[in-house]
Amino acid sequence: MIITVHTLFPGLIDAYRSEAILARAEREGRLEVRARDLRRFAGNRTGRVDDAPYGGGAGMVIRVDVAARALDESRADVPPPDRTILLAPSGRPLTQERVQELAALDHLVLLSGRYEGFDARTEALVDEELSIGDYVLMGGELPALVVIEAIARLLPGVLGSQESYRDESFATGLLDWPEYTRPPSFRGLEVPEVLRSGHHGRVASWRRGRALARTARRRPDLLDRGALDAHDRALLAEAEAEIEAESVEASSEAAEAARGEAGAVTDAAEDA
Ligand SMILES: C[S@@+](CC[C@H](N)C(=O)[O-])C[C@H]1O[C@@H](n2cnc3c(N)ncnc32)[C@H](O)[C@@H]1O
Repeated sequence: MIITVHTLFPGLIDAYRSEAILARAEREGRLEVRARDLRRFAGNRTGRVDDAPYGGGAGMVIRVDVAARALDESRADVPPPDRTILLAPSGRPLTQERVQELAALDHLVLLSGRYEGFDARTEALVDEELSIGDYVLMGGELPALVVIEAIARLLPGVLGSQESYRDESFATGLLDWPEYTRPPSFRGLEVPEVLRSGHHGRVASWRRGRALARTARRRPDLLDRGALDAHDRALLAEAEAEIEAESVEASSEAAEAARGEAGAVTDAAEDA
């Protein structure tokens, strides 16, 4: 897959893609990232791409003719882009589902802005606008890298094992279950017994229940309880009961510890 990024700071994209899994994916020919300098399309010798906003106000706006020339160049590429995306806080929020759709393309073009963003007429030149979240960054380079990395890890062969992402948060419509590794006990925090049981069926049920319970507690917007089948409803109820019992136990242990400390202070005061 090819991902072309039009940006005023291609070096920011190049610095990130030259390390770790993205670099390996490019070396192995699974992905090609092309970072192109928007200043090449400035149409003047200074490389200036922005101008003051009509109607006045603070900040500068990237010209529509600059965006148009950049997109024209990409459209002449082989293969031409399947999709052109303008990165903007006002765009449609990126989701894992959208990432999966984008990962199926051959060539994706991303337009990354700076300053106050692009002239609004740029929206008519692209297929869609995409936001990486409800906050404003200084430029579109990090959003572009977020899109690139989210896509790259879904491309065949990029991650060590396809299993690595299949059960992750959002891939199944649920948040991921909690994971643990050694040591089994750390400062009074224990790895759940079931995970050390070696019983695959119990482990799978526990994980499913915890994924359901985590989603229900942390992201209720993702979970349609009414659509769960009887098995999932039972696993969710069991996990919620266990979590409730764990939190009661944790708070009584904390209260015990606090009473112990208070007792020690009183004893010390009486001794003094
Ligand atoms: C300072 S922002 C412009 C913000 C714009 N004036 C607004 O309020 O919506 C400059 C550039 O950063 C990028 N950007 C900033 N935050 C983003 C986000 N949450 N999602 C996608 N792109 C973002 C866009 O490419 C944008 O053109």
